[in-house]
Amino acid sequence: MQAETRLLTPDSEHLAFAAMMLAQGRLVAMPTETVYGLAADARNAHAVAAIYEAKGRPSFNPLIVHAPDLPTAMTIGEFGIQARQLADAFWPGALTLVVPLRAGSGIASLVTAGLETVAIRVPAHPVAQDLLHSFGGVVAAPSANPSGRISPTTAQHVMAGLGGKLAAVIDAGPCEVGVESTIIGWQGGLPVLLRPGGIPAEAISDALGQRLTMPAANADPNRPAAPGMLSSHYAPGAPVRMNATTAQGDEYLIGFGPVSGEITLSPSGDLVEAAAHLFDALHRADETGRPIAIAPIPDHGMGRAINDRLRRAAAPR
Ligand code: TXA
Ligand code: MG
Repeated sequence: MQAETRLLTPDSEHLAFAAMMLAQGRLVAMPTETVYGLAADARNAHAVAAIYEAKGRPSFNPLIVHAPDLPTAMTIGEFGIQARQLADAFWPGALTLVVPLRAGSGIASLVTAGLETVAIRVPAHPVAQDLLHSFGGVVAAPSANPSGRISPTTAQHVMAGLGGKLAAVIDAGPCEVGVESTIIGWQGGLPVLLRPGGIPAEAISDALGQRLTMPAANADPNRPAAPGMLSSHYAPGAPVRMNATTAQGDEYLIGFGPVSGEITLSPSGDLVEAAAHLFDALHRADETGRPIAIAPIPDHGMGRAINDRLRRAAAPR
């Protein structure tokens, strides 16, 4: 338990302090281009356990390892030809690759929840890059929110959800992408879309010259391929109604394009802008305590990731 959480500006002195905290096995919330991550030394089982504790997260949920570059990532996972192709095309960036765990990687088994695969990402955010270089290791970092709640896209979201449970939050302003990374794994040798996210699935299949498969439906529901896919995962406190064109009763309407709401994700109907504003809008709506209604979002490109998050937010609990 860490009683005082320091809010840090991302200058070199503060990053050195944050890196020292990581080296001591403590938790630091770091900005990435997707969402803020709750980082701990991925080789320190105790530090990783503190992530699960701080988030109150179900213990079977494996975490994403964040590395500064591909050579470092290759010391942790085994990259096949397609994984290499995707890393070359999209790293650093909003793509996570689930690859076989390399023997002797030293990654705490709590990170992979005992699986023989590991999820790895090289983030593009300059502050995440500086922190990883200053730390000199790799960090496990799920989104920095209490389990089952909305992902944080500002340092203030992190403080509101987890303040007092981590050593420091590095404040680098709002995240540019605003939804989590796209997760790709392989099943039976075929590339599988495990979670839609910041990089459109279409761009990934274009890079591979091959269509992506959906995850096997017969997977054990208690050990999902991507447990982030548990249905009510991104839940605000109040009910959420999708495809709404007007507010009913006391609803807080989140608009998009022609549907204007109390807050509007993108008045011009730009899906990338909408993704960047999504979680902040849900946080604001949630703070009102009123039921939430949200305008229809086209289901292509970044819209697929947005609708995926919204369906989870809307799922009955
Ligand atoms: O954008 C992001 O990816 C953010 C930022 C902080 O980098 N991180 C993030 O982490 O969303 P998290 O822990 O909230 O999501 C991890 C996802 C979960 O859905 C988990 O099931 C999946 O990655 N995952 C991790 N390891 C896996 C594995 N070995 N096999 C399949 N899925 C895995
Ligand atoms: Mg999350």
